[in-house]
Amino acid sequence: MTSNLHDFIRGLPKAELHLHIEGSLEPELMFALAQRNAVQLAYSSVEEVRAAYNFSDLQSFLDLYYAGAAVLQTEQDFYDLTMAYIERARADNVRHVELFFDPQTHTARGISTAIVFAGIARALREAKAAHDFSGSMILCFLRHLSEEDAFETLAAALPLRSQYADLWNGIGLDSAEVGNPPEKFAAVFAQCRELGFRLVAHAGEEGPPAYIHSALDVLQVERIDHGVRAEEDAALMHKLVQTQMPLTVCPLSNLKLCVVSDLQQHNLARMLRAGLCVTINSDDPAYFGGYMTTNFIATADALALTREELIQLAKNSFCASFAAPEQKQQWLNELDRYVQNH
Ligand code: HPA
Ligand code: ZN
Repeated sequence: MTSNLHDFIRGLPKAELHLHIEGSLEPELMFALAQRNAVQLAYSSVEEVRAAYNFSDLQSFLDLYYAGAAVLQTEQDFYDLTMAYIERARADNVRHVELFFDPQTHTARGISTAIVFAGIARALREAKAAHDFSGSMILCFLRHLSEEDAFETLAAALPLRSQYADLWNGIGLDSAEVGNPPEKFAAVFAQCRELGFRLVAHAGEEGPPAYIHSALDVLQVERIDHGVRAEEDAALMHKLVQTQMPLTVCPLSNLKLCVVSDLQQHNLARMLRAGLCVTINSDDPAYFGGYMTTNFIATADALALTREELIQLAKNSFCASFAAPEQKQQWLNELDRYVQNH
């Protein structure tokens, strides 16, 4: 692909809808925070950390991801983490992020949910005021833990809801998928729905198409995170097209976690060309080799995406967001102007 199209991708206004903020912890910041908080790391250098990022599946990644998160202790740590992500996102002309965070990863270490909220929110609000960069927060339950634990997590977060009403609007489901089907969380998602939260869930990353069905039918989510295994079920594919259910696909994540053996084998282009509302996202960019532009470029090169398809992906990212209709229209207008001028 020509470098012109690469430049076009970098400047393309876009939204990121699948980003675990803890997964944006770069080894350099991990070391700095370890020192600041006197946390002992299992590595002696940044290079050693990067060399350890050789994953065979989702669980092999999650083990390192949860270990790395141990350096996050104070409000300032969560602020620094989030601000570092925002700077990288802005360099890729990401205009809006709906970021995931995992309170249970932190409460298990004695860090309160209030500290996590405060640090992330301060960075998002500053970026909004200074750069018109917009963000919102999706609280995720860890699916390898019990539904009772999820209920406790929700109960700990709800008193903070009014304080973060401008940011926290979503509930998600992440961590080890296989053996932890969506229906395990039916009751807590029903309560979140009654409370008026927007709902998403990881499904069909490593788990079977049946998990996508139950995320839709039982949890009643409005987006599927990953969803790449939908292709194995023709009836499901038909339903996803008919309903224009967004899939937040993460190509470099799928490559690093061996969901696909080769980016050229990735089904993103097939799904897009079949009429699904597909988006490109970075998932855990510090662990998987890149942020939004890197994901777009690697995918565009591997699958020969056209300029029109790249524009469609950017459009999908805004349309699939949980922003207000007028806000979406503003971004789509900005995208139109960009396309006219490039
Ligand atoms: N899948 C499931 N859980 C996760 C992921 C993922 O890709 N990243 C962080 N938690
Ligand atoms: Zn994810």
